[in-house]
Amino acid sequence: MKAAVYSKNGGPEVFSYTEVADPKPGSNQVLIKVEVISIEGGDLSNRLLSAPPTSNYIVGYAASGEIIEIGADVSGFQVGQKVITFSWAGSHAELRAVDAASTYAIPEGMDPQLAIAAFIGVGTAALAIHLSAIQPGQRVLVSGATGGVGNAVVQLLVNDGIEVIATGRSANTLRSLDEFGVWKTVVSGETPIHEQVKKIDEHGVDVFIDTVGMEVLVDGMKAVKNGGKVVLIAGRAGEGNFIDPLYILSHRLTVIGCLLGAVMQEPFVGDLLHKSLRWVAEGKVEVPIHKVFKLADAESAHREAEKSGKFGRILMVP
Ligand SMILES: NC(=O)c1ccc[n+]([C@@H]2O[C@H](COP(=O)([O-])OP(=O)(O)OC[C@H]3O[C@@H](n4cnc5c(N)ncnc54)[C@H](OP(=O)(O)O)[C@@H]3O)[C@@H](O)[C@H]2O)c1
Repeated sequence: MKAAVYSKNGGPEVFSYTEVADPKPGSNQVLIKVEVISIEGGDLSNRLLSAPPTSNYIVGYAASGEIIEIGADVSGFQVGQKVITFSWAGSHAELRAVDAASTYAIPEGMDPQLAIAAFIGVGTAALAIHLSAIQPGQRVLVSGATGGVGNAVVQLLVNDGIEVIATGRSANTLRSLDEFGVWKTVVSGETPIHEQVKKIDEHGVDVFIDTVGMEVLVDGMKAVKNGGKVVLIAGRAGEGNFIDPLYILSHRLTVIGCLLGAVMQEPFVGDLLHKSLRWVAEGKVEVPIHKVFKLADAESAHREAEKSGKFGRILMVP
């Protein structure tokens, strides 16, 4: 099969599109012919920051496609079925072997491009909101609010009647959130996020859901009122941007780690993922798609995905 691979982490230029061995499904796995790949924020961080465990490494969490082979111990799936798949690696390829437990039927009639674009972002957003147990009347700050996860968090909260302050680097892109009913927007960069939030509400927000990490996490935490919650989704540390335990202690903050991939095989989370896909299929959550690239041009696709000011998922097709 052909795949976009790299042997050294770095910028999008590390990709080469080349012939590699076909994957063989294990007894608990299915083999899919990949039809659509969603470039997730985590794919960008993995490519940039993590040394690949093998040469010709195939990055990527999310791909949809058609099942072409089924492992001996798998039940509940058929050859020819269209599915969404998650794994810690391997989406940037023509074929993908994945655990059946991380494989999900695409809801009847749902566009497979929309399904894969939505899957991780909306699922993660739903899990983060569940974990944060936000109460009616509370206010929430969301960082990376124009990204795949952040935009879904914003929409789900607004649907629940929660007042959301959305932050991002581009004023222009943040304006796209108006149509989703975001309460306030705050552009990060020149003035610290927490100072801008405190101008809106001097007490700060009840919950901060962070999908960026680094300096945005450290800054946004200071916008949370005493006794409030910080939900970590990105988990990226930046040089010199570490969370101060004394700050957490003195402000009595609750810090919650939300990692979808680690719990997605739990029945409750599986239900949440199915529910999230239904919300998208029914139009209760919109998932914008920015652009579709060829897998052969993974370098340009990743370059585009890294740009600030874009709005919506970047997809690739083999
Ligand atoms: N914990 C989990 O289960 C889980 C699941 C999915 C994703 N994630 C993580 O969540 C993060 C977001 O994923 P995603 O798929 O939503 O990514 P995405 O679609 O690429 O969006 C990330 C957003 O963050 C903003 N951003 C990026 N770099 C920034 C920086 N240096 N400073 C300020 N803002 C920045 C960008 O918005 P602007 O250009 O508007 O600034 C971008 O739209 C990633 O780190 C990913 O690994 C975690």
